[in-house]
Amino acid sequence: MKQGIYEIKSNVKIAKDVYKMVLAGDTSAITATGQFVNILLEGKYLRRPISICDWDGDSITLIYKVVGGGTEQMAKMPIGEKLDLLVGLGNGYNTAKSGAKPLLIGGGVGVPPLYALCKKLIAEGKKPQVVLGFNKAEEVFLKDEFEALGATVTVATADGSVGVKGFVTDAMKDLDYDYFFTCGPEPMFRAIERTVTVSGQYSFEERMGCGFGACMGCSCKTKYGNKRICKDGPVLEREEILW
Ligand SMILES: Cc1cc2nc3c(=O)[nH]c(=O)nc-3n(C[C@H](O)[C@H](O)[C@H](O)COP(=O)(O)OP(=O)(O)OC[C@H]3O[C@@H](n4cnc5c(N)ncnc54)[C@H](O)[C@@H]3O)c2cc1C
Ligand code: FES
Repeated sequence: MKQGIYEIKSNVKIAKDVYKMVLAGDTSAITATGQFVNILLEGKYLRRPISICDWDGDSITLIYKVVGGGTEQMAKMPIGEKLDLLVGLGNGYNTAKSGAKPLLIGGGVGVPPLYALCKKLIAEGKKPQVVLGFNKAEEVFLKDEFEALGATVTVATADGSVGVKGFVTDAMKDLDYDYFFTCGPEPMFRAIERTVTVSGQYSFEERMGCGFGACMGCSCKTKYGNKRICKDGPVLEREEILW
């Protein structure tokens, strides 16, 4: 994990209340897809965690939804503004455990970290399928980008305004997969848990306190005792979680 100053290269709206921000700076601390950054914002005591959607040698892409004061501040930031980030936090997804036909399941702002994961799985010769769940058509993002990578994408919307009407689990019914990776809200995880019969990895976007393992404010019960989402996660394996 490294702390650094990152400069905003772009910050654009890509769906209802959802923005894509590209930051320039040191990316050497990023070791796995599914890791996150923790952003220091003016007037906020706690940093705000956001998953790494993608990165290269000198830039990081984040996708975030405006839900409160911190993300509202971010949405107003102009190109050239500098942000203090902790980078390379969390364990990330372990692609070595994937089968040849993994299913990537993203719900809302849980979708971003699956993008770099999808790229990695394809580079490793796997054939990922992607299911993206949103409430309505105007909230959909990254569908075209996943397709451009070569993945098959199914969108589910709760109101049926685009794609399959219903939840990600409705869109998963007829798909053939041998492993899964997911990120999104916990109610979605519980529905997935009732649906899947194969192994997989869940990435939790819990509300956090300190963000670096000191407060236990983000703990999750596992077979191996309480794990901290910020430090031991955010990715936990299906078999270890006590729901
Ligand atoms: C590991 C991790 C990765 C994340 N990745 C992303 C991402 O890629 N994109 C993204 O948009 N968001 C992501 N989040 C959620 C993001 O951190 C919060 O939405 C953000 O901190 C809210 O800050 P705020 O100041 O705007 O809202 P606040 O003023 O802090 O809160 C506003 C409202 O949002 C709710 N809220 C705040 N944080 C969360 C949360 N973690 N989960 C659910 N509800 C919350 C609060 O209960 C409140 O109702 C991630 C969270 C974690 C822990
Ligand atoms: S947020 Fe403090 S231990 Fe995870």
